[in-house]
Parts: sequence; C-alpha cells; structure tokens
Amino acid sequence: MAFSIFQTLLGCLPLLCFVSVTDGMPDPTQRDLLIREEASRQTGGRVTLTAAEQELDAYLHRLKEKEMSAAQFPPALHFFRAKPLIQQSSIFKVLQKMPKGAALHIHSSSLVSVDWLVKNVTYRPHCYICFTWDNSVRFLFSDRQPFPRWNCFYWQLLETLRAKIKDPAGFDNSLMQRLTLFTEDPDGEYPNQDVVWEKFERAFIAAAGLITHAPVLRDYLYQGLEELHRDNVMYLELRSGLSKTYELDGTIHDKVWSLKTFQDVTKKFTADYPDFLGARIIFSVHRALSVSEVRAAVEEAIQLQKEFPDVVAGFDLVGREDSGRTLWYFREALSLPAEVGVTLPYFFHAGETDKEGTDVDQNILDALLFNSTRIGHGYALVHHPLAKDLSRKLDVAVELCPISNQVLKLVSDLRNHPAAVLMSEGHPMVISSDDPSLFGTTGLSYDFYQAFVGIGGLKANLGTLKELAVNSIRYSSLPAHLKDTALLMWQNKWHAFISDEA
Ligand SMILES: *[C@@H]1O[C@H](CO)[C@@H](O)[C@H](O)[C@H]1NC(C)=O
Ligand SMILES: *[C@@H]1O[C@H](CO)[C@@H](O)[C@H](O)[C@H]1NC(C)=O
Ligand SMILES: [Zn+2]
Repeated sequence: MAFSIFQTLLGCLPLLCFVSVTDGMPDPTQRDLLIREEASRQTGGRVTLTAAEQELDAYLHRLKEKEMSAAQFPPALHFFRAKPLIQQSSIFKVLQKMPKGAALHIHSSSLVSVDWLVKNVTYRPHCYICFTWDNSVRFLFSDRQPFPRWNCFYWQLLETLRAKIKDPAGFDNSLMQRLTLFTEDPDGEYPNQDVVWEKFERAFIAAAGLITHAPVLRDYLYQGLEELHRDNVMYLELRSGLSKTYELDGTIHDKVWSLKTFQDVTKKFTADYPDFLGARIIFSVHRALSVSEVRAAVEEAIQLQKEFPDVVAGFDLVGREDSGRTLWYFREALSLPAEVGVTLPYFFHAGETDKEGTDVDQNILDALLFNSTRIGHGYALVHHPLAKDLSRKLDVAVELCPISNQVLKLVSDLRNHPAAVLMSEGHPMVISSDDPSLFGTTGLSYDFYQAFVGIGGLKANLGTLKELAVNSIRYSSLPAHLKDTALLMWQNKWHAFISDEA
C-alpha cells in the first residue's frame, strides 16, 4: 500500500522509483530525498548559498533554536509584548543590518514613527490641539485662533498648554498613545476586531492635522524615507490618497501639489543618499466611497499616471475590507481603464479577512480577475485553492504584513498565520509593514523577524531571506531597467552584508 502511494506521488521523479520499502520500514534514503524535495519547494528553497552564506545560515539556525526554546517566544506573543524581546534578539540585529530591498506595502498616513510626530512636529510653533468629546484629539497649525470645527470647540495653543503642564514627558506620552494602537494591555483593551479598527481609524484622523500641514508633509516624507533607509530598505511604494494640504494662513494645496512634493522630497533624498533608489505612489481611495466616486478616482489615477509616469505606480482601494465595499461592487468603476484602452496597474488589498465565504472573502478572486499586480495581505488566499493556483500562475505576489494581521486580530500566535502554507510552497511573496507608526515598528525588520522566525519556523533559512529581499524588487512596479539597477545595488549591499556578518 505504502509502496503504491510512493509510486503515485513520485512517478515523476525517476530516481525515486527505484527506491523500495524493505522489511516494512520506509527506506531512509527515500525519506531523505522526500524531505529535501519538500524543502526545495519553500520560499528560497532553490537558492544556493555560498560558503560564507552557509556559515551565517548555520549561525541563524542556532539562534533560532535557542529563541524557539526560550520561556517566551516572541511570535507567539502579542507584538506589543513581544517588541522588547525582539529588540534584544540577535536574529533581529542581523535582520536590521540585512539589505531587505523594497517596502511595497506602507500607507502614507502611518509612515513615520510617532515619536518623531510628537517630539518634533507638535513642538513647532502655531500648533493647536483640541480634545474632542469622544476622547480623541485633533491638531491644527494656524496663525490665528482656529474656529470651532471637527467636534472641536476649544483649540489650545500647544506651546501655551505645555507651559502650564507639570509633567511634559507624561503629556507627550499621552499624545503618543492617541496616535498609535500601542497599549500595555492589548487583549483587554481590544477585545475584538471592531474595537481595534475603531481605534485605528481614530488614530489616523488624529494624525491627519499634523501630516497635512504643507511644511510638515515635506519633512515627514523625508523622515519616513530616512527611517526606511536606516533599516536597510532601499525603495518604497507608498499607498497614498494624496490628501490636500494646508498652509498656516489656511491656503489649500491640491493632490498635484502633494505628488510634486513627494517627487521633490524623493529626489532630494536620493541625492543625499545615493544608495537609496527612490519611491513611488500607489494612489488609493477609501472603499467607503460610492461607485461614481471611485470611478472619478480611477479617472484621476489615469490622469495622474499620465502626468507623472515615474511617480504614480497604480491604484488601490483602502480601509477595512470587512466593513467596506467589495471589489465586485466597484466593478464598473474598476473596468474603466480596460474599457477606454489604457493600462492602470492595480495593487488591491484583498482577503484581509477571516470571514470565510462572505462577499468580502471573494475580493481575492476579484483582485486577480482585475489583473491586480500584487495582492495586499491575501490573508484568506489559502482558503481559495483556485485563486491560489491562479495567483501562482500569474506570478502575483502576496504582500505579507504579519504584525498588522496580528495587531488587527486576524491571528494571535503568528506560528498559525496561514502564510506558513504559502511560504512552505514558495508562493510569490514580499514582506511589508503596512502601518509602521500605528503598530510601533520602524522599517521592515520587525515584520521580517516575524516571518522568518514565527511563520517560517526552523526551516526558513538564509535562502528564504534572500529570496524575500529579491522578491521585493522583482514584484515592484519598477520598469525592467530600474529593476536591473535595483538588483545590482541590492547585490552589492548583500555582498557587503555577508562579508561583515561572516
Ligand atoms: C524637526 O525635524 C526637522 C527636520 O525634519 C529639523 O530641522 C528640526 O530641527 C526638528 N525640530 C525639532 C524641534 O526637533
Ligand atoms: C486583464 O488582462 C487581460 C489580459 O491581458 C485583459 O484582456 C483584460 O481586459 C484585463 N482586465 C481588466 C479588467 O483590466
Ligand atoms: Zn494596508
């Protein structure tokens, strides 16, 4: 019986057909071959490592064994508890130094650490604050006392307020709390997805008054690129709604101003740091909009891409999938580019849900039917065998954001993340951080740690890391010649990294 199963399974591998079962015990040689065959299918399973790389790989393997047997295993804990442990991890320190390629899934309103927002931005002159009745905050830069608005009747100049406060450090901490999801008691404070998403959207709104101040936006973007660069990331694709920005006197700038600012800042940054390749925008609107509004946004995206082909990569819909509208709901709007014969690449969030069998759950398939270039999250993908085959065949990468999925309560112990299946079969995949400032991460190293140590387990190796980094360039929206440039830049960094670490 066992023999015939082997024959069926391995009929395609002639070498194995000669191996037989003796004395009722499976042949150890055959077992070995099967183990190696399976390992070769995982992400990075076919990467050959140099002697120096093998040495580093063995070192990482030993570290991983140690971390896995420690009393507290970071990927099994909520990230807010795990973070201090991860910071002490020797694997994490290697990952910080590792050239990770590109960050392909980050939202512009959550790009920069909250520390900087509070310690730098809220200390600038003319910054007003208001505490709303629902225990939220709003910020506004203004050269005169602001009028009541946004549930705010009483705006206080922060400079004046701080002068009266006895514990400025405590006050700053309380501001940071309102701008992130961080809490000492994540399980108590966020009993379910609805509660955590509500806090999530409130924090976004709170930060908006700071980030959309025109002079702040400039520094904010620069700071965001700096944080990525410091974490050895060399390229960014940023999802952004290109919000309108405002000046002190109330002057409003439009989307094109934001886009030009993004372009200028990126140019300045790459001039200051020639080993950083650049950044592009995935223009995004909220999935709460109506079909006609999304249609208008798609038209706008086509126009923006025509005017700024080097900067605008494509289009996405953002916001919580479970409470928003489905891709299929927007089918008429999303068909517009094909209808008028233009190409507008899509980068859809899809399958960021555990509501199996719902209409939202079908976003995965619809993203593929709309030719999405990548899939944001794809948490539900493993439950859709056909969509999974299709995305592999079409070479559509999943943007895996482990910490986001955990903090937003799709999964608690990251060893149980469905991407473990995708990794073990080498599904196209990249790692990203989604909303670093809200989750309290910087760069990609924290998410790489979770994918490498938690989701990948002991079998994820240096080849896995190498493939994930290369994937981030391969699956980026860069044109072919820039991908080549990026790959060369990355390879140089990788060689330097290996010779430093070995
Ligand atoms: C804030 O950051 C800018 C650069 O983005 C810097 O020039 C300025 O000195 C900083 N201000 C404070 C108060 O830290
Ligand atoms: C998807 O791509 C196919 C093949 O290139 C094309 O025929 C089709 O029109 C595209 N669909 C959409 C909705 O863009
Ligand atoms: Zn996202």
